[in-house]
Amino acid sequence: MGAGSAARVTIAGVSALESLVESFDVPAGYLDWARFGPLSPVVRAEMRADAELLGTGRPSSIDLVGARGGEARDLAAQLLHASSDEVVLQPSTTFGLMHAMFGLKGTVVVPAQDFPSVRVEAHRAAAARGRLTVREIDTPGGIMTTDAIVAALTDDVTAVALSVVDFRTGALADIAAIRDAIGGRLLIVDAMQAFGVVDIDWSAADVVAGNGYKWLRAGRGTGFARFSSHARERIAPVLSGISGMAGDATSLGAPVARDGAAAYSVAPSDPLAASRLAAALREVQEAGVAEIAQGVRERAQGVMQLADRYGIAVLTPRDAHAGIVTLVPEPHDAPALAAALANHGVTVTARGATIRVSTHVGGGADSLQLLGDALADAAALRVVAVEFTREELGAEATSGDAITIEVGDILEMPDEIVVLDDDLGLDAEPPSGEILIAVVDPAPEDGARDDVAGDTTES
Ligand SMILES: Cc1ncc(COP(=O)(O)O)c(C=O)c1O
Repeated sequence: MGAGSAARVTIAGVSALESLVESFDVPAGYLDWARFGPLSPVVRAEMRADAELLGTGRPSSIDLVGARGGEARDLAAQLLHASSDEVVLQPSTTFGLMHAMFGLKGTVVVPAQDFPSVRVEAHRAAAARGRLTVREIDTPGGIMTTDAIVAALTDDVTAVALSVVDFRTGALADIAAIRDAIGGRLLIVDAMQAFGVVDIDWSAADVVAGNGYKWLRAGRGTGFARFSSHARERIAPVLSGISGMAGDATSLGAPVARDGAAAYSVAPSDPLAASRLAAALREVQEAGVAEIAQGVRERAQGVMQLADRYGIAVLTPRDAHAGIVTLVPEPHDAPALAAALANHGVTVTARGATIRVSTHVGGGADSLQLLGDALADAAALRVVAVEFTREELGAEATSGDAITIEVGDILEMPDEIVVLDDDLGLDAEPPSGEILIAVVDPAPEDGARDDVAGDTTES
């Protein structure tokens, strides 16, 4: 079931999604939303206004800004299709997950290659309390599947915890299918790379933890978590602090934890962070989650099409993703690709052998244009083995000779030149302006062709 609604239209006839798209004021080329979402203009304005109110010292102004926490909670609850008392603000995603893991007993199944928030908190809780066992599971490529989770289920498993969208591969987990497969066990999800940009039924999960500093464009400190009643029955609020206790500052001893998700809270939240989160969630709600999710998916598919056009492998599943597209260039092409991206002002995350491109609904067309230009440049510099005839070369080369040509020349070579193989497994330096290629005779007397690839290297 989707969280969105039918297309939203403003009075001016401009869809609310279009208004949201127009609000993106980052320079073209920003394709790094999975790392950090530059703050939206509305978020910046709200925060400035609330900061001014907090500067007045007037109790009414301070109370007004203090109410942002409740507003943010209500909005998050609406988007999660939960009740407000199931939602609690957090400094970050990891804090929300920490409350969940430290209160758990039994065995929790976690993906081995997921972002560390889930896994590390699970191990820390296991070590500190001795009541939890962590079972890490892995799959080829690190993409979690419902089958892999089912294979790890034993009677002692009390919970499964994973990211809804994987930070590395961009894979979107099917939490509805996982919910069905795990029965009454708890499903704990890290929504950091998904919330606001995927149209799923979040009520499939018992605990949802997220933060607004990436896809919501709300800045850091805007975390939130939802704990369903099923979760609250099974997760003890062991890290509950002064904002999670019943009573007030005059209470003596260790008061019991508050009812609802409020129990999973350590200290009062920052009202300016709540103000940013509330503003960002309002923008998402107005534009519609379904519409945003659709736009993000289309942009991501645009990235995949560019990758296909320029022969770069895509790690992200084509049929299950949100805004993250992970490219896996050939190792010998990666430096040229990284340089081309930088030259064209394209901001992405390069990690190990992968390049993570993450697209939002805004700034899309220009950014994809720049990305395409960068991929085209990198493709032109790609180290290839070519075969061509002695006549075409006009050289005095004989069969099997290797000659050096400028890479610039390769762009001007006649169309008849055949690219034999662009996957030579070269392990040397990146192309530096010239490459060596072997000359083959058009009709070798013995009928065999020279092994161009084997003779080819770069200077
Ligand atoms: C999947 C995932 N979870 C959690 C985090 C960290 O979130 P936070 O800083 O809100 O704890 C990140 C950060 O990149 C992430 O990608």
